[in-house]
Amino acid sequence: MATKDKMVIYSKVQRFLEKHKDDYDRFEIQGVLDYAKESNIELIAKTDLIRGIYDELGYIPDDLNIYKIFTEIIDDQFGLNGKRICEVGGGVIPSLAKKIHLKQKKGNIMVYDPRLSQKERGGRRFLLKREFFHKHTPVEEVDLLIGLMPCEGSDPLIENALCHQKDFMIWLCEGGPHGDYFDFYESDDEWLNSTLSRVEYSVNKNQMGKLKVLNYPTFSDYPIIYNER
Ligand SMILES: C[S@@+](CC[C@H](N)C(=O)[O-])C[C@H]1O[C@@H](n2cnc3c(N)ncnc32)[C@H](O)[C@@H]1O
Repeated sequence: MATKDKMVIYSKVQRFLEKHKDDYDRFEIQGVLDYAKESNIELIAKTDLIRGIYDELGYIPDDLNIYKIFTEIIDDQFGLNGKRICEVGGGVIPSLAKKIHLKQKKGNIMVYDPRLSQKERGGRRFLLKREFFHKHTPVEEVDLLIGLMPCEGSDPLIENALCHQKDFMIWLCEGGPHGDYFDFYESDDEWLNSTLSRVEYSVNKNQMGKLKVLNYPTFSDYPIIYNER
């Protein structure tokens, strides 16, 4: 990328951060500016806090855009139109939910994250919940639960879906095994293997079809898991 283009993008990121100064702490702001200075778009596209900002500014090419790719994968497996979808851990900028909302002519998308920007305005079919999602969060009005690397939100999403026999699709991440409850896992691998066998067992037992696993190594070392009825 030409130096001039890099400078234009950098100053747009700066302006974005000024407008959103209440959404990020000073370490995050410094981190975002460091990434923006480097301007390595492959790396930025893989890093959750900054990729949301770059997506908002329209600087992530389609082939590197995980929000776009995941929207297509969910659409292929479950169909987006007419579905009542609940996303767990949408981030500060709910980039995935925005793409889903644009694709839906009917149905709705509701997104949970205590970090959702106050600048974001929801709507009748684009519902913002600035709170944690729990195992017992009511989901009667939901057809499909989704999460894109929701860190410690992975477990409540999966448990809630299994408990209420709701369809689900989640792109796992290294954040899953963190937190007090998970500290007894020795490694990410141990957590991942244990999660896969536990979820596979419950999907079968609850007659939710079969557990499917997809891998997209160019985007992440962690798989997408979902139930197929
Ligand atoms: C790694 S970020 C991913 C954000 C976004 N999905 C993305 O890929 O750009 C994880 C997000 O999950 C949120 N989160 C973690 N646990 C959650 C829970 N139980 N309910 C809702 N959000 C949660 C965090 O606040 C954080 O914003």
